[in-house]
Amino acid sequence: MKLTRRNFVKKSGQIVLASPLLGSSLLSFSRTKKSKSLKILILGGTSFLGPHQIAYALSRGHKISTFTRGKSKPTVHRDKFDKVEQLIGDRENDLSAIEKGNWDLVIDNSGRKTEWTRKTAQLLKDRASLYMYTSSTGVYYPYLKDSVDEKDSVLLTEPKGKMDEETKLEYWYGVMKATSEEETIRAFGINRSIIIRPTYMMGPGDKTDRFIYWPIRLSRGGEMLIPGKAEDPVQYIDVRDVAKFMIHLAENNLAGTYNAAGPETVQGMHAFANEIKPTFNNEISYVYIQDYSFLQKNELPYLIPWIMPTGNNYGTARIKNNKAFKNGLKCRDLKISLRDTLAWWNSEALTQERRNRYENDPKGLLKREAMILSQWKKRGD
Ligand SMILES: NC(=O)c1ccc[n+]([C@@H]2O[C@H](COP(=O)([O-])OP(=O)(O)OC[C@H]3O[C@@H](n4cnc5c(N)ncnc54)[C@H](OP(=O)(O)O)[C@@H]3O)[C@@H](O)[C@H]2O)c1
Repeated sequence: MKLTRRNFVKKSGQIVLASPLLGSSLLSFSRTKKSKSLKILILGGTSFLGPHQIAYALSRGHKISTFTRGKSKPTVHRDKFDKVEQLIGDRENDLSAIEKGNWDLVIDNSGRKTEWTRKTAQLLKDRASLYMYTSSTGVYYPYLKDSVDEKDSVLLTEPKGKMDEETKLEYWYGVMKATSEEETIRAFGINRSIIIRPTYMMGPGDKTDRFIYWPIRLSRGGEMLIPGKAEDPVQYIDVRDVAKFMIHLAENNLAGTYNAAGPETVQGMHAFANEIKPTFNNEISYVYIQDYSFLQKNELPYLIPWIMPTGNNYGTARIKNNKAFKNGLKCRDLKISLRDTLAWWNSEALTQERRNRYENDPKGLLKREAMILSQWKKRGD
């Protein structure tokens, strides 16, 4: 099995301190002080990141409108949506619901095509002060370097030549995100654009099932497989920390581009494993499998946040994050993220069918782990 960032999703500038476009008074607000109430339009808002942005923004006294097709239903903070103006349309062909109105901030979460962002940014540039585009560290694909920062070049064109479908998807996603960033800045200018590039997000509401393995498996205890070499780097971020950071940047008018990747300091796979071990206060013993070829043979080239750091994925978890932390990003305790995510997973917000689909998947690691461990112990016999 080959790894690309997009297959986990299951198909679904440079910093510039802004000119005071939200009003010069905003610049004087400290991070802890209450900001002026902002009118915020979220393109999207009902999936994973959006509900957390909404909950936090409402707690800060802001007013929210969302723009969606009305299809996706949130599985977290559902009680907050009666305080939200819900505008209905389609980014593909019906923007009429946002043809009128003024906002302090637009958050573009639902960018899936460059022309979607081009159209909304152009449509809103004279009626909104700031445009915040939710991009991704995918703009740095292929991840061939160490310590990539916001000034590094991004993927603006797809390479020609033969490649497999997964690599193609990876390139498509990186180019789509990078060119959407360009469209944001073209319409709003660098002083009114905020670009956020999150790494893998995890936490309550995650629809990708990329990270849920860890809390489920840890809560079961016993002998547990840990793939990867001790120092293989890992990066991840709680979706709620991203949401809070985004609102904080807008409140403080901090235009620019930010890699949103935790933890704050470099972490290797074994350090990650040690940090999460006490999460559920139960008996766990780890079996470390550091042999890449054994892991490949057993179709385990990644287990987010661990990704075998070879080839195009060498630098996937080596993204520089100091700018974001300097500008207010804070990461909560990883154990809290895991506990909250498991509580959400087992809550009535999800159906038992959804849980079964993941937990009983014969291709999933939950089902295959015992077999892999037994192969590992037998190797060389
Ligand atoms: N998950 C990660 O680890 C990760 C990492 C880096 C970056 N990101 C980025 O983070 C952003 C937010 O992710 P997310 O998972 O919260 O949201 P998402 O699933 O990418 O977007 C879903 C939202 O967009 C709306 N939407 C979809 N199609 C639409 C259309 N044609 N017209 C209008 N609205 C439409 C959906 O509502 P309806 O279906 O009702 O229309 C929903 O509210 C994305 O841009 C993603 O690329 C995610």
